[in-house]
Amino acid sequence: MTEGMKSKRIRGFSKMSKKDKLIWISQFLPDSQEAVNEMEGFWHRDPNVQQLLDEFSENTLTNFVMPYGIAPNFLIDGQEYNIPMVIEESSVIAAASNSAKFWSEHGGFHTEVISTVKSGNVHFIWDGPSEKLEGIMPELSGLILEATQSITANMVKRGGGILAIKLLNHTDKLKNYYKIRVEFETVDSMGANFINSCLEEIASILKEFIPQYPGFEGKEKEVKIIMSILSNYTPDCLVKTWVECDIDELAVLDREHGADEFAWKFEQAVRIAQVDPYRATTHNKGIFNGIDAVALATGNDFRAIEACGHTYASRNGHYTSLTDIKIEGRRFTYTLTVPLAMGTVGGLTSLHPLAKRSLEILGNPGGKDLMRIAAVTGLANNFGAVKSLVTKGIQVGHMKMHLMNILNQFQATEAEKETAIVHFTNHKVSYSAVEQLIKSLRS
Ligand code: MEV
Repeated sequence: MTEGMKSKRIRGFSKMSKKDKLIWISQFLPDSQEAVNEMEGFWHRDPNVQQLLDEFSENTLTNFVMPYGIAPNFLIDGQEYNIPMVIEESSVIAAASNSAKFWSEHGGFHTEVISTVKSGNVHFIWDGPSEKLEGIMPELSGLILEATQSITANMVKRGGGILAIKLLNHTDKLKNYYKIRVEFETVDSMGANFINSCLEEIASILKEFIPQYPGFEGKEKEVKIIMSILSNYTPDCLVKTWVECDIDELAVLDREHGADEFAWKFEQAVRIAQVDPYRATTHNKGIFNGIDAVALATGNDFRAIEACGHTYASRNGHYTSLTDIKIEGRRFTYTLTVPLAMGTVGGLTSLHPLAKRSLEILGNPGGKDLMRIAAVTGLANNFGAVKSLVTKGIQVGHMKMHLMNILNQFQATEAEKETAIVHFTNHKVSYSAVEQLIKSLRS
């Protein structure tokens, strides 16, 4: 470290008061006092709410605010919804809303929850003939069900619990590697804590059971538990959503080229996403624009959802689109199938005041309903993106929505903003075009 430079290392940071943490970190900024004031400015005015937010995480300094919006006019299985979305990217909510409006006039979104099974694994190393392990499974499974009853009782009352216990032999992939895979139904909760608690209990049962089991000798008595953890890959927690209409109904989406040309180009765009992983990644990213925004608004774990979605997209050995298209005769059907482990009870869903509000806005859905809603939003966003891509391109709409951000970068006044909005209704938005306009207004 150069002489005179302040060290950025610290001991006991977590023990410091929030204010002291803020002051400490701000000393490295050129405008320390201003930084403290700015960060404090984002504290919630209600100290109880702020404390709640602080306690969600660790070493909290302030709140990072994101726009919370509504995409209205969704018709899902005949029911109307206004969907709360938390997202910072311009034009995502606009795209979702446009798709929602179009499809609400063409039969709405249809959904089917295919399955709701989640799983977790106790990964362990054991050296012995696999038949011996397989042989103890019936007895071990009974013991596991009995010993986890105190953890599963409430879940069982709500209609969930442990569904299956399986021994999987992976010794062909890694020496002596086995896992006990446990399948769960967690009803309306995402269930991560429930699953992990069960798995840790199961690991301790396994550790006790094997050494004392009659017939296990020498090294067979030794089981090395490596880890016990849920799997975020939930291909059996799967939802399907689709839209369909006659091709002629698509004409309004591309007045210049007409319905047939639009449907053909749209189909080609989906086929490209199915065969080209470079395109598939962006195509799926557009789906997660919608799904993540709903996950955030409802206090769900968007990292788990994303990780799972991308693994699912690679399930056949190459990364592909999560959507599929069928054009049969004059019928256009566009489908998204995606695994979504989402919850409406537990976690942040009822703790975060805005997550709670989001669920209220959605009519207090159950876990399955939230899977439907999030999947629909993903399909709506993707449909909007692909529609734009194969017609006028993405930038016209995107830059129109981004205009405010550019204006704010120039610290435009309200009057300048108003003039710019009128000007750019019939001019192409770009950073330099906005810069030029602002300069001319100010000169
Ligand atoms: C941008 O956030 C998402 C898109 O790139 C998705 C897509 O290309 O399908 C517009």
